[in-house]
Amino acid sequence: MEYQNPKVAEIAAQLKAKLEKSDDKRAILRAPELAALYDHLKTLPAGQPRADFGKEVNQLKQELELLAKDQSSEAMKLEPIDITAPFDVNVSADKRPDLLPAEYSSRHPLTTELNIILDIFLRMGFRAVESRQLDDDYHMFSSLNFPPDHPARDDYDTFVTDEGLIAPAHTSTMQNRVMKEYKKDLAAGEAIRAVIPGRVFRNDELDARHEHTFYQLEGVYIDKNINAGNLIATLKTFFQEYFQKEIKVKTQPFYFPFTEPSFEFAASCPFCDEKGCSICGYAGWIELLGCGMIHPNVLKEGDIDPQEFTGFAWGGGIERLVMIKYGIEDIRNFESANLKFLRQFS
Ligand code: DAH
Repeated sequence: MEYQNPKVAEIAAQLKAKLEKSDDKRAILRAPELAALYDHLKTLPAGQPRADFGKEVNQLKQELELLAKDQSSEAMKLEPIDITAPFDVNVSADKRPDLLPAEYSSRHPLTTELNIILDIFLRMGFRAVESRQLDDDYHMFSSLNFPPDHPARDDYDTFVTDEGLIAPAHTSTMQNRVMKEYKKDLAAGEAIRAVIPGRVFRNDELDARHEHTFYQLEGVYIDKNINAGNLIATLKTFFQEYFQKEIKVKTQPFYFPFTEPSFEFAASCPFCDEKGCSICGYAGWIELLGCGMIHPNVLKEGDIDPQEFTGFAWGGGIERLVMIKYGIEDIRNFESANLKFLRQFS
């Protein structure tokens, strides 16, 4: 369409060029250039020039509407695809990558091992609760007895979104939720027994032992008269079952704000049986996780009376266990999507 008014003609050309490049065709109807033409119209004195200008602006709007409709219906002419189908159903054979024939796919080793780990804990009477991948300051810190501005917060280099949400740096974020949800078990005379697997994130320097994204397993056990002996026995039983061998265990004092006392839990290296190897750094012993007796303030914050109930908790990396079990030397393999690595577990 030809426009007589030079101003309208100029904007028409600009908007048509814009429309061509834009993915959202209908957006052109909200273009500021079009709105500016209407604003300009209002400033014209009433009479013929204003009527002519108004007519052309309306025509331009209609033309754009038609063009937007036409071009967006181009997309409608494509064959519909099933977006839930495996991708090789939607991609023609000549465009499929050679390396990924769907029939040779396999479980990621972390999924396989996590299932084995959860199975052991389910047999020990624990329920599994999944953690979340975005959380808040309350669950990451305050509910876990980190006072505001306490330096212990700096031990966790958390990723924070612009809105102030936190990518959890440990699965302990779930302790408060588990206590509130399952305190009804305590009321019914049963222990709270939960394991919580989850993906966690830390702004760490990367090396063979540190990843920014990894998995942890948290455990929480609360009942009357629970003590550190119960904690050590539970963890030892689990590790012997997971590594399928007798191991020795020891604890060292440590500090976490959410446990008192707090421990580091170590085991004789299941890979070399204390002889010393690259997996245990030739120490014969290997640190497996952090644990302790749940701090009374954390129980209180979870609506549980610390005078009546005590409990233990632990949290540790899942990759680390899998690395020890299979002699994997670099944690970065897990998130690498390296098929040579992954296919060894298929
Ligand atoms: N959340 C701790 C960390 O990632 C590990 C931990 C220590 C978890 C002691 C616990 C615990 O539940 O009781 O560094």
